[in-house]
Amino acid sequence: MSSLADRIAVVTGASRGIGAATAQLLGARGARVVALARSLTPRRTERRWDLACDLTDEANLTETAAAVLDQWGAPDIVVSNAGAFLLRPFEATSLEDLESQIAVNLRAPFALARAFLPAMREDGGVLIHVGSIADHVGFPENAAYAASKFALRGLHETLVAEYRGTGVRVSLVSPGPTDTSMWDPVDPDTREGFVARVDMLRPEDVAEAIAFVATLPPHVHIDWLRLGPA
Ligand SMILES: NC(=O)c1ccc[n+]([C@@H]2O[C@H](COP(=O)([O-])OP(=O)(O)OC[C@H]3O[C@@H](n4cnc5c(N)ncnc54)[C@H](OP(=O)(O)O)[C@@H]3O)[C@@H](O)[C@H]2O)c1
Repeated sequence: MSSLADRIAVVTGASRGIGAATAQLLGARGARVVALARSLTPRRTERRWDLACDLTDEANLTETAAAVLDQWGAPDIVVSNAGAFLLRPFEATSLEDLESQIAVNLRAPFALARAFLPAMREDGGVLIHVGSIADHVGFPENAAYAASKFALRGLHETLVAEYRGTGVRVSLVSPGPTDTSMWDPVDPDTREGFVARVDMLRPEDVAEAIAFVATLPPHVHIDWLRLGPA
């Protein structure tokens, strides 16, 4: 397993949930972590740099990535995790709903990859997209989210093909239901057909899977890792 000591890891959506757990775990294992999310209070130490960034705002994302590249150099690991979840019957789902899901779940990862991959070519690295079980399975009331996550998988597969042999490995980690605040508006415990929160994955479980993918030796490529509650 390759060491995380002094590796630079950028984690998006690191203010809570899976991203916060991933930033914490990678940092605890020795990485220097850049954490991005809208609600983070900017702060910086030698080992951890929190930046407030709206990834759907192209200028904000571009400026933030440029600052990271300028001051900490090319990341070794990018975890493109920030996302939003909409559960709404199809006929009640507007085009604006679709656009806002695509903005954060597809357009932002696309822009993030454009911002970091060119610099990562030189020393190699790992770009991990956080997909979802909904990137390959259709569930009722999930059209806009699934459309954005299936499309993210399309982006992922294209990048795998395009970056093969460059030293940059691109991986997709697709979790099933995970107990984060993403579920608060849904209240799955009271709804038939949903996994109860107590039975869901924990954010730390997904963080472990991400850390596993990120720390394999450079000659090993995990294309797609799917995990869910047992
Ligand atoms: N929870 C699940 O059951 C589950 C299952 C499969 C896949 N996933 C995926 O896992 C990822 C993380 O989900 P989670 O469950 O940890 O959700 P969460 O607890 O709601 O966290 C979402 C994160 O994304 C950030 N974010 C949202 N919009 C953003 C924007 N415009 N710019 C920057 N950051 C933004 C949020 O930070 P701010 O609000 O501070 O910006 C937050 O840190 C998502 O991609 C989600 O689709 C989750």
